[in-house]
Amino acid sequence: MASSCRATVKTVGNRTGTSTKLLGLKFTNPLFLASGVMGTTPGGLKSAVDAGAGGVVTKSLGLEARKGHSSPNVVGVDCGYLNAMGLPNPGVEYFTEELSKVDVGAPVFASIFGEDPDQFAKLTEIASGAADGIELNLSCPHAEKVGSAVGTDPDLVERIVSKAVDATDLPVLAKLTPNTDRIVDIGRAAESGGAAGVVAINTVSGMAIDVETKRPVLGNVTGGLSGRAIHPVAVKAVYDLYEGLSVPIIGVGGVETPETAVELILAGASALQIGTAVATCELSVFRDVDRGLAEYLSQEDLSLEDLVGLAHRN
Ligand code: SIN
Repeated sequence: MASSCRATVKTVGNRTGTSTKLLGLKFTNPLFLASGVMGTTPGGLKSAVDAGAGGVVTKSLGLEARKGHSSPNVVGVDCGYLNAMGLPNPGVEYFTEELSKVDVGAPVFASIFGEDPDQFAKLTEIASGAADGIELNLSCPHAEKVGSAVGTDPDLVERIVSKAVDATDLPVLAKLTPNTDRIVDIGRAAESGGAAGVVAINTVSGMAIDVETKRPVLGNVTGGLSGRAIHPVAVKAVYDLYEGLSVPIIGVGGVETPETAVELILAGASALQIGTAVATCELSVFRDVDRGLAEYLSQEDLSLEDLVGLAHRN
């Protein structure tokens, strides 16, 4: 395990426990598996829960099966990864059928992507057959007609969210892009459309060039940066969204230690997602971060709820 993934807090005081109720669901802890990592199969989702994830998000699902971009589609860079997967997935109907056969052991959010409000409504209806919540991917930075292509126009975001909300009784989350100067406007539009919460942030647009071949490394040329490198971007996005929105915020971006988790919660996140650190710190990251978070809360004599957004009140 990379040493930067290790907890450094110690226990004093007497408050423990990070279980939480959010979005009408119960979670054993506020650390969820982010979309795109291990979520291609229900078995992968279950493995994350068995390793300590309090909730899980599927790989983003579309109406049809899709192969994604040509490789190389993931490259390691300093403090993170660049990916241009291109939303490969087996299709929402197939995945929902498979998911309905498995007890994952924690709430499952189905991540979906579409081109317009009607597609999102259809995807939501189908995915609701087996999921506990829906996450709308309005933020993939490297796919045509979907992701951030539909997620940077607040009016369109409001219509997409509203149609999805009308298509289900489950909580609907909107996953937002950091590749805009309007993230709060977009978050507000999602809230107006009826989103139960927002997820911030998806990957930051970026690219890498091989100095020997003198060509872009990724098959798709550009991709999305994730991991520790984007943590400060996520902290600011969550901080700004907390000022502008009333719905809960799920923070994601570079969480790999208790300190990085606490920072996002202080900024305003009610729960967190972990993606890249599953690869850089191993699957034990969920238990390691949860243990450190519980110890921090105990040491500070605070509940998880007390901690959410505390940086705005101090
Ligand atoms: C992908 O599968 O292309 C990544 C998804 C995303 O960036 O939202």
